[in-house]
Amino acid sequence: MKPIKSSFEKPIEIGSLKLKNRVVMAPMTRCFSPDGVPSSEVSAYYRRRAENEVGLIITEGVLIEHEAAGAEHDVPHFYGEKALNEWSRIVDEVHKVGGKIAPQIWHTGMAREPEKFPASNIQPVGPSGINFKGEKSSQSLTVNEIHDLIRKYAEAAANAKKIGFDAVEIHGAHGYLIDQFFSEFFNKRTDEYGGDLSQRTRFAVEVIKAVREAVGLDFPIIFRFSQWKLNDYEYKLVKNPKELKSFLTPLVDAGVDIFHASTRRFWEPEFEGSDLNLAGWTKKLTGKTVISVGSVGLTAQLTKNIDESKFNDTTAHLDELGDKLDEGQFDLIAIGRALISDPAWVTKIQTGKVEEINVFDKADLKTLY
Ligand code: FNR
Repeated sequence: MKPIKSSFEKPIEIGSLKLKNRVVMAPMTRCFSPDGVPSSEVSAYYRRRAENEVGLIITEGVLIEHEAAGAEHDVPHFYGEKALNEWSRIVDEVHKVGGKIAPQIWHTGMAREPEKFPASNIQPVGPSGINFKGEKSSQSLTVNEIHDLIRKYAEAAANAKKIGFDAVEIHGAHGYLIDQFFSEFFNKRTDEYGGDLSQRTRFAVEVIKAVREAVGLDFPIIFRFSQWKLNDYEYKLVKNPKELKSFLTPLVDAGVDIFHASTRRFWEPEFEGSDLNLAGWTKKLTGKTVISVGSVGLTAQLTKNIDESKFNDTTAHLDELGDKLDEGQFDLIAIGRALISDPAWVTKIQTGKVEEINVFDKADLKTLY
């Protein structure tokens, strides 16, 4: 194996964000925050990754202040004194050991299943009230409600800056609220928030602009997007580079600094005729800093569910990853499951202690080590 060390270790500066290396922890929901307040283990969990050469941590999705924002219990809030105080402590812990951290601000939209919350009668919200089965299950958001939600994203971003986070990531991927506006499956609106692909970016554009206004010019905004959706891993929002460009251009113009192009296997070309993946195309088309992601440190391809794979060689595809980073196809690489099961995955790879790596197992999701 070619030493991955050199490819990982180059520092990078994106505006005010100075990262010591190219490794990012992918945002991963962990449900260890009873009543929305991160438990004391959460700060130790993030600190451990920062201590072990993860240059930038993107937190698990954190909920903006809206009654229907969440789809699971024990997901952290990003509002209210208690939750924000705890986030402030987490930021301090990560900073103490030289790490950088950004919260991923999130609204799950129509992914909320009311059956999981029998004590409340809060229905999911989305562009056209269409659920993951394609059925109309609740009212479409009114324009006033859309404006309120945009304000809530901006408030969350303002709090991120106030607490001392180093950047903010807007979750626009995987079929959650913002992505539901992008997708013609969920978005059947005939007003200014619906229409062709570029019109369907309007909600995201207004969120990004409001966030920019709330955080000022110096605070980096990361925007995560994907082709795949929770209910359809094969979904293609864009079918060729031209469509990708018309999708991304309004987001760039609105103020995104860093794109996080979420794919399930980083080595897969996105379009025919080039080996660039979605992140590679995003960089080529926008010139922005781009994070790639997908099955780093895992061998078997993800099968049907995101947590079902078999692993035996954690170094598979690492040469390819090094080449892509060295060629500048993308700038940063996010690592998800490999970092759940081994907080020291990066240092073990860098120092050749591959046999000491604790490889991912679904059971690791039950604990917060
Ligand atoms: C995720 N993923 C995810 N993505 C996101 O944008 N916000 C989130 O809150 C979560 N939550 C989450 C929880 C768990 C348990 C897993 C395994 C994944 C997706 C994640 O960020 C990443 O894109 C994928 O896991 C692919 O990366 P790896 O795991 O192949 O490196």
